Amino acid sequence: MKKLTRYSVFAVIILFLSACGDSTNTSAPSNEVEPSTSATAAASSEPAAEVAGASEAATTQVAEADVMKLGKQVYMRNCVACHQPNGKGIPPAFPSIANSDVVTGDLDAQISLVLNGVTGSAMVAFGPQLSDEEIAAVVTYQRNSFGNNTGDEATAEQVLALR
Ligand code: HEC
Repeated sequence: MKKLTRYSVFAVIILFLSACGDSTNTSAPSNEVEPSTSATAAASSEPAAEVAGASEAATTQVAEADVMKLGKQVYMRNCVACHQPNGKGIPPAFPSIANSDVVTGDLDAQISLVLNGVTGSAMVAFGPQLSDEEIAAVVTYQRNSFGNNTGDEATAEQVLALR
């Protein structure tokens, strides 16, 4: 009997807490307005600060976006089966791209690995099947996705030089 009372007190508390939770949720969006507004303000004040270099910076950003788009396409067609959409792979058979030592390490070493594959493993050589641009893009994509944040970009020239 005592136990039952205790449970019902619990139930009341939980009900009460979840009611509070709901009211917090309803007010949450209005709280979120502030950070996003200030983020927009920060972003828009940045180009204004360097008017001279603005158009050049915009062009570079567009080029980067295109490379990432192509890189994602190549990844989704050729790599996703093993390394997975979230880049976490299926260890131990297929290693994670997220936080990988190779993908966050030396750029040339990663390009070479993708070009030549890893002998005796399921990682085949993609050199014969993909263009320099595609390999550069997919390497760039891996280095700047899934939480990887190297900030560097592989070029087609670099890939050609390592073939
Ligand atoms: C059929 C499965 C498979 C596919 C498809 C595949 N990989 Fe791999 N990948 C592997 C395996 C297995 C390894 C581990 C090789 C080893 O070191 O033994 C690996 C390793 C890697 C590594 C090194 C990761 C690390 O930390 O050791 C990179 C980078 C990589 N792959 C990139 C790619 C890219 C880019 C593609 C698509 C163009 C791709 N892989 C497609 C199976 C695959």
